[in-house]
Amino acid sequence: MEKNSKINMERLVNHCKNMGIIFAGSEIYGGLANSWDYGPVGVELKNNIKQAWWKKFVQENENSVGVDASILMNPKVWEASGHLASFSDPLMDCKNCKTRHRADKLIEGFSKDINPDTMTNAEMESYIIQNKIACPNCGKRDFTPIRQFNLMFETNRGVTKESSSVIYLRPETAQGEFVNFLNVQRSLRMKLPFGIGQIGKAFRNEITPGNFTFRTIEFEQMEHQLFCKEGDDDKFYQFYKDYSIQFLTSLGLPQEKLKFKDHEKLAHYAKNACDVQYKFVFGFDEINGIHNRTNYDLSRHQEFSGKNMEYLDGVTNEKFIPFIIEASYGLDRIVLAVLDNAFDIETLADGTEREILRIKPSIAPFKIAILPLIKKNHNDKAKEIFKELRKHFRVIFDETGSIGKRYRRQDAIGTPFCLTVDDNTLENGIVTIRDRDTMEQVSLKVEEVACFIEKKIRE
Ligand code: GAP
Repeated sequence: MEKNSKINMERLVNHCKNMGIIFAGSEIYGGLANSWDYGPVGVELKNNIKQAWWKKFVQENENSVGVDASILMNPKVWEASGHLASFSDPLMDCKNCKTRHRADKLIEGFSKDINPDTMTNAEMESYIIQNKIACPNCGKRDFTPIRQFNLMFETNRGVTKESSSVIYLRPETAQGEFVNFLNVQRSLRMKLPFGIGQIGKAFRNEITPGNFTFRTIEFEQMEHQLFCKEGDDDKFYQFYKDYSIQFLTSLGLPQEKLKFKDHEKLAHYAKNACDVQYKFVFGFDEINGIHNRTNYDLSRHQEFSGKNMEYLDGVTNEKFIPFIIEASYGLDRIVLAVLDNAFDIETLADGTEREILRIKPSIAPFKIAILPLIKKNHNDKAKEIFKELRKHFRVIFDETGSIGKRYRRQDAIGTPFCLTVDDNTLENGIVTIRDRDTMEQVSLKVEEVACFIEKKIRE
């Protein structure tokens, strides 16, 4: 369906603020760049997506288990992973207005025909000069040379600020899965191939303005690491590419808005890597990555920790360090993709507009709204139904304003169904259920409602 042309990122940001979905972080203090807070509606959506991911990647996925590792890890982890040495962005300062910019983003903003990921710093500098790329802030063309800035946030352990006390906020959850490989394998007697999934916060000192929640300094990752034997890796890489698309389309993201982008410049340890991109209102961009990381991570942890990370194959008696296929998802980017896809502004037959979030019932923040038609007559019965239904799923109660206004409010937060309690409910136990997308209404017996909604959630 063609989207209303009025929809842009600014409109979505305002909608999210007004509807209690996402607020600017620390707003009353003027905010904090690239940080956002989820409101009462947003947190429900986010939790539902997390649960859907856990179900798909841990619960239903063959031979997979979960962990919940610490955010703060021994700093040696980041030496072994390579993050201390090379997890950095190429930054340039504008000498005129003193703003800082990522060289690769300046080039991407100038031309879509060139991929800065394949360029060296010297190549990026000369491209920027030759093409007269200007500072997006002041328009001058006077940048410093590129310097690499590490993206990890540092903090100090204990009361002193010596270099020996420096620890880092994790920039990815993956390392918590790698360092626990043997703990998980031995404690649950796991046999290859097996997977470890984890959901948790990650932190990166991002300076580029983030397109709402697309690029933030604190975000949640949902990462699954499949440990397998070398030789099985290509098969599992393809499996997780397909699995990714299945997962994303199960959230209601249309297949035609998703595409793979193979990495042109592979990390030195990677055998294969691709992003899944979604077509946001600002264009296609990455929402998750699938990587064949070979046996690099476990080999590096073996080298730096001095612990043997080999797996003993009980059948062949072979010992080897497993390969890893990683499927890495940014939860906040998926929430943004779902909102971007669901948000629409419809012009109704009477010329009025309705703002709507067409979110799939399975992940909608609230499944049904309970609306007493006339507060003083129907509230008691409506409250009774509300209390019963909330045992089954997330339900919202709204008694304020005309029924039409209440429908609009629920449309705007993506509630797929509204249940109206009226005289017919008091007399015959019949309620009216209105569908968000079609605006059609059906009558049901009160006792049939839970089943009706459960069925819609499963569709
Ligand atoms: N363990 C691999 C890894 O972290 P990545 O491509 O750097 O790979 C994985 O990150 C996913 O995390 C990305 O596909 C994206 O969805 C999300 N992500 C990365 N940086 C982010 C940021 N600054 N803000 C929001 N999400 C981010």
